Amino acid sequence: LNTLGEREPEIYGSMTLEEINRRLMEKAAKLGADLLIFQSNSEGELIDIIQKNSKEVDGVIINPAALTHYGLSLRDALASLGIPIAEVHISNIYAREDWRHESVMASVVTGQISGFSWRSYLLALEGVVEQIREVSPPPEMP
Ligand code: DQA
Repeated sequence: LNTLGEREPEIYGSMTLEEINRRLMEKAAKLGADLLIFQSNSEGELIDIIQKNSKEVDGVIINPAALTHYGLSLRDALASLGIPIAEVHISNIYAREDWRHESVMASVVTGQISGFSWRSYLLALEGVVEQIREVSPPPEMP
């Protein structure tokens, strides 16, 4: 995903990850949400950042890229979080090759947004923030 903009633009569009992240930051500011954005090509590094921040975050938006289809370690790391998680795909994985139709993440995420190009990320942000605000009980009174 770090090569978005250059990588198969007929499938993933011409927008770079930097530009998507800029739009996410803008939208988060409008929604009054703080975002920690992280990209890695390594499954272990993704798990490390998820575990390191698991106590500080209220939700996750993740495009697991090809790990979607076989990344069982990442799946298990997400499964243990117990917070709203949106699985994001730029392309519609169900309209592509058969092997992309299976997501090992699907059973542990709150929901998927797939096929809305770069907008998938913004839709996911909206969904996760709304979900957090709806399901999080107000802080307990002393
Ligand atoms: C993707 C879909 C995956 O199948 C693929 O391996 C990707 C990107 C998407 O955003 O459409 O790297 O997650």
